[in-house]
Amino acid sequence: MTKRVFSGIQPSGHIHIGNYIGAIRNWLGNLESRDNIFCVVDQHAITVDYDPDALRQGTRDAVALYIACGLDPEKCRLFVQSHIPEHTELAWLLTCVTPMGWLERMTQFKDKAGAKRERIGTGLFTYPTLMAADILLYQTHEVPVGDDQKQHVELTRDIAERFNRKFGEVFVIPEPVIPVVGARIMGFDDPTAKMSKSAPGHHHSVGLLDDPAKARKTIMRAVTDSQQGIVFDPARAGLFNLLSIYQVLTGQGREQIEAHFAGKGYGDLKKEVAEVVIAEIEPIQQRYRELIADSTYIDAVLARSVEKLRPVADATMDAVRRAMGHR
Ligand code: TYM
Repeated sequence: MTKRVFSGIQPSGHIHIGNYIGAIRNWLGNLESRDNIFCVVDQHAITVDYDPDALRQGTRDAVALYIACGLDPEKCRLFVQSHIPEHTELAWLLTCVTPMGWLERMTQFKDKAGAKRERIGTGLFTYPTLMAADILLYQTHEVPVGDDQKQHVELTRDIAERFNRKFGEVFVIPEPVIPVVGARIMGFDDPTAKMSKSAPGHHHSVGLLDDPAKARKTIMRAVTDSQQGIVFDPARAGLFNLLSIYQVLTGQGREQIEAHFAGKGYGDLKKEVAEVVIAEIEPIQQRYRELIADSTYIDAVLARSVEKLRPVADATMDAVRRAMGHR
């Protein structure tokens, strides 16, 4: 049986090379061998303050960017979460089988809510049950994500197991798939913080659609340390981050890379990292510009995916509604 893969990205802010290295690149690797579903999770993007027009635009941009990165719509199903309303129906049903304590343990909630805990929408708290619904609705086997989403996929497993115990075997139990290198790309301005779409710093991240000159500047300014030697040492976070990006994008081994940079300094390393990053994003940007100009093509891709996904979602929801006593 072909394994089914599901994953998604929020269309909030700009999609950066952390998302690309931690997620999208790994989706591309299994395009031929899996039954792939990739989603732009627009309903996840409303758990914090947002602008509806920017969300509408960002969602289309993200679909075009997926395709520009190489996610061929002939080989996978690309869709927008809100186009299949059962995600939110299933999320509610799962919320009712998810203990508060499980959600309270989610580190992302603690980080994001922080001092604003009393004022933020409840959706930020229950968000992992919506993510569980995304995954479980399609009877997913594998969920390729970066390190920061591992806890949410593990929660999804726990919810599915609890549901199956209580109501009968309805859901496939999914597995997180985390890349060995690049699962946690750090901010260029602060290598102790994960690269994130919402971080404020101007030189924090490189977006897939960033102007190459800006990308180069951000990488050249990357925070490192005052030690000597270009080696893979996790204790030297800034250096390790640059080397990891280089490793993933060139496909070279660690020894080969260390030999290449022997006797060289941070300036040389940053220059070469900037070159490989720009060589990766420039063709994506060119394809993106062509795609975004043709909105009928994107609409057609999205409509076709919904048509193909509907029977899968219908079958799961039918089983869930019967199991829970709503039919
Ligand atoms: P999001 O939009 O924050 O991130 C999308 C993907 O990018 C990965 N990622 C990173 N990888 C490496 N280094 C980083 N600095 C970095 N930042 C982000 C994330 O791990 C993720 O794989 N809740 C999810 C979206 C989602 C989802 C789903 C994912 C909703 N439903 C169902 C999988 C399955 C999120 O906010 O990802």
